[in-house]
Amino acid sequence: MNFESANFFKPGKKIMVLGGDGFCGWPTSLHLSGLGHEVTIIDNFSRRNIDNELESNSLTPVYPMGTRLNAWEEMSGQFIDFHRIDIAVEYEKLLQIVNEKKPDVIVHFAEQRSAPYSMKSPAHKRYTINNNLNATHNLLSVIVESGLDIHLVHLGSVGIYGYGTAGIKIPEGYLDVEVQTETGERLKKQILYPTNPESIYHLTKSQDQLLFFYYNKNDQVRITDLHQGIVWGTNTNETSLDERLMNRFDYDGDYGTVLNRFLMQAAVGHPITVHGTGGQTRAFIHIQDTVRCIQLAIENPPLPEERVMIFNQVTETYRIRELAELVSNLTGAPIQYVPNPRNEPAENELSISNDHLLSKGLNPITLDHGLMQEVTMIARKYAHRVNHAKIPATSTWTKEKQPGVYDAFSK
Ligand SMILES: NC(=O)c1ccc[n+]([C@@H]2O[C@H](COP(=O)([O-])OP(=O)(O)OC[C@H]3O[C@@H](n4cnc5c(N)ncnc54)[C@H](O)[C@@H]3O)[C@@H](O)[C@H]2O)c1
Repeated sequence: MNFESANFFKPGKKIMVLGGDGFCGWPTSLHLSGLGHEVTIIDNFSRRNIDNELESNSLTPVYPMGTRLNAWEEMSGQFIDFHRIDIAVEYEKLLQIVNEKKPDVIVHFAEQRSAPYSMKSPAHKRYTINNNLNATHNLLSVIVESGLDIHLVHLGSVGIYGYGTAGIKIPEGYLDVEVQTETGERLKKQILYPTNPESIYHLTKSQDQLLFFYYNKNDQVRITDLHQGIVWGTNTNETSLDERLMNRFDYDGDYGTVLNRFLMQAAVGHPITVHGTGGQTRAFIHIQDTVRCIQLAIENPPLPEERVMIFNQVTETYRIRELAELVSNLTGAPIQYVPNPRNEPAENELSISNDHLLSKGLNPITLDHGLMQEVTMIARKYAHRVNHAKIPATSTWTKEKQPGVYDAFSK
């Protein structure tokens, strides 16, 4: 078996993975279980239900949870427990399972994570706010009520900072500022880096940051907040072991992330659709690095009473049109510029510090042709599952914005 760590049989920590059925949560659960940790997944299957609502699907087959867990036990000999709980609503159930399991660590992925979905309608905005803020707040409240010393590892987004950097490298959570007092004295302080959310989804991640700040200050909850970039790729060492363990691959206009969408479009004979000028610069990370970063965050918890630890979980930045050109050169697929449905600057620079995770031992996977080809091969293998009508990004940020629809008749 192709497990990454020699610690496979070393008894580990008790870890709960909230949102462990999702794109990042599933491979993380397998990775942590593979390292010998005792893993419990909590999920309410809302992501599977959203596929039903949008009449969309993952490009790759996503097997039922029971099949996934049995396959993992067959392949690894490791048992993962599962409980279906809506953590935004079922507070008592969450408290009960936390009291029963007494986890050392809780990894929190259980939020609605698509910016376009969060902007579809007032109902989607309200759902995203209610789900994400209640999920995070219930969890913090459960940790305090349990009285246990649990290390909370949360997946935030680097997108909360907006896409302009005021000419500086975005630091890891905290900004050094100097303010002038009324007497003219200059005081040096560190504050949370100001957020500038670009969607309702990013707004919830910005609010999460304040919830963490408060619960850490008031109740000394130990928290690591990972501000993650856009994840690309699909499989990890563990999900590649068997088709039943395969990770999801979102390709639709709401949930598909940009590089995976470009690779999928090229693989299924659709032009690569670039929103606006493609001058937007974004931060990226491969899914294999996502699981590794979470392992590193778990292995390096904040000390008791330490402030919230914030890591930028990104490995590189790219301009969107550069990515489109890379994929086009690799596959021969044409590029089509379409309207940008989002309300965002047409062009931006982005520079982000990621020193913390590098100092903890992250050896970043950077975008290379081999890995992009692997994603393309998966996309080709499952091309028959693509619903072409679901490819365009149709959710617009305001009434004035136009969907990112490709015009088959334009040149
Ligand atoms: N995928 C990315 O590119 C990316 C980038 C930056 C940050 N993140 C963050 O990482 C986290 C996971 O993202 P993902 O791509 O795996 O998303 P996902 O939608 O695939 O997974 C989220 C999982 O959480 C579950 N969930 C949602 N609300 C829940 C609730 N109230 N109770 C129980 N379960 C609930 C869903 O059913 C789903 O299985 C998110 O918080 C997201 O904001 C993701």
